[in-house]
Amino acid sequence: MKILFLNGPNLNLLGQREPDIYGRTSLADIEQSVRERAAQSKVEIDFRQSNLEGQLVGWIQQARGQFDAIVLNAAAYTHTSVALRDAISAVGIPTIEIHLSNVHAREEFRHKSLIAPVCRGQITGFGPNSYILGLEAAISVNAK
Ligand code: DQA
Repeated sequence: MKILFLNGPNLNLLGQREPDIYGRTSLADIEQSVRERAAQSKVEIDFRQSNLEGQLVGWIQQARGQFDAIVLNAAAYTHTSVALRDAISAVGIPTIEIHLSNVHAREEFRHKSLIAPVCRGQITGFGPNSYILGLEAAISVNAK
């Protein structure tokens, strides 16, 4: 099984960025713990980050036939991007929406996710553990 982790804008700054909201763990540290957990389940992962919406759309399109699931922290694009939503819908790969913070407990503009209706489910508010829970959800949607 192959799972693609995609991270959107500003997540490259994790660890330094608003640590009271996002914590002090870097994206590289999160990737490391995802890799350790994936190895236990013999799952192959690819872990990427981009600040560019078009790059994320391109990666989602290219995932067709290559990955069994996508775990997506679309960051701010969650709340704005029709293009990401359409890409997820177009490729039809089971996609799990994740967030470090609880977006529903924050500003009102974060309560709306444009991608949620085309994702299998949403994991929000568990800090770096949202990535591990996302991995487990991705494995479980693929379990035969
Ligand atoms: C986020 C929540 C988004 O609202 C925000 O724009 C982010 C990070 C999270 O992981 O909590 O950049 O996706």
